[in-house]
Amino acid sequence: MLVLGLESSCDETAAAILRGHEILANVVWSQLAAHREFGGVVPELAARMHLEALRPLLRAVFDRAGVTPPEIDLLCATRGPGLIGALLVGFSAAKAAAWALDKPFVGVDHVLAHVYANFLNASAPDHPLLCLTVSGGHTDLLYAENPHQYVLLGQTRDDAAGECLDKAARVLGLGYPGGPALEDLARSGSPRFKLPRPDIEGMDFSFSGLKTAVVNLCHRLTAKGGEIPRADLAASLQEAVVDGLVGQLRRAVARFRPRTVMLAGGVAANGLLRERAAAAAREAGAAFRVPPVELCTDNAAMVACAGLHRYLAHGADPPGLGVDPDLRSADVSNFAG
Ligand code: KG4
Ligand code: ZN
Repeated sequence: MLVLGLESSCDETAAAILRGHEILANVVWSQLAAHREFGGVVPELAARMHLEALRPLLRAVFDRAGVTPPEIDLLCATRGPGLIGALLVGFSAAKAAAWALDKPFVGVDHVLAHVYANFLNASAPDHPLLCLTVSGGHTDLLYAENPHQYVLLGQTRDDAAGECLDKAARVLGLGYPGGPALEDLARSGSPRFKLPRPDIEGMDFSFSGLKTAVVNLCHRLTAKGGEIPRADLAASLQEAVVDGLVGQLRRAVARFRPRTVMLAGGVAANGLLRERAAAAAREAGAAFRVPPVELCTDNAAMVACAGLHRYLAHGADPPGLGVDPDLRSADVSNFAG
């Protein structure tokens, strides 16, 4: 089955073509340079740039895959969560193309799509599985008994882990997005600062206290006229974020005894998080999976894969379906696919 996926929820315009779980072409055009000078994503600019990128991007992905539009069996696009103007571009294009080609269309939950990056170019993971999805906007702990039913065990009560890293990186003058730069800087630092670890019962997360602690610490240090030991602070923050994430992951692993433990989302590109999560899985005798770094961050191959599973379980979405900027992973308790 040939599947076309489109992703335009934030600042990446992406298209991919899959044959089943196999990636035939996966192209991501980042708008990062355009947004960088504003210190974050400008929604209106993002939507306009998606619109300009879409046609050449589609041409590129069909060329690379060596297939023609009429050969596509299923079209998928991110439905939410995301920026409404940005979402509308990819979603409307995929729906219109599905109508023109007389092929089925499926709208995809972006946060769930991150989970499916683990299914690409790979055999299906053993179930039950636990997946910790850590992105710029979400921190979700998911449990699946089978490939068609995901239950949300926990989520962040305030800021996402990625948001905390991005904000702290901004205060440290590292620009946007902060995660990769922070990881680089942390390599030359020592985690000597004691930063708060939230004490939460159950499976939820919290990162706003940590974010505030780092910002306050920076202000205190500069108010005294001192230099900010940036590398040490980056290392301390990375350690605290990974501790917060893996602590809850370990708790869930002990309780649910999954056969597979997975990471997903942009923050799953982080080396320390990958290492610590792999150790947690290994100690519990579970298999461990994490997508290659280029499939952790936003892409359309994961959207196509999630759409394919949703289609196989649920069939096509109706043509009247609209985008949903607040689409929440909490919906996944009823999700099949
Ligand atoms: O999943 P994603 O690409 O976009 C969203 O759906 O949000 O995640 C973006 C997040 C940003 O917060 C970025 O700083 C973070 O992923 N990130 C990283 C790394 N690479 C990207 N965080 C830590 N270490 C990295 N290497
Ligand atoms: Zn994402």
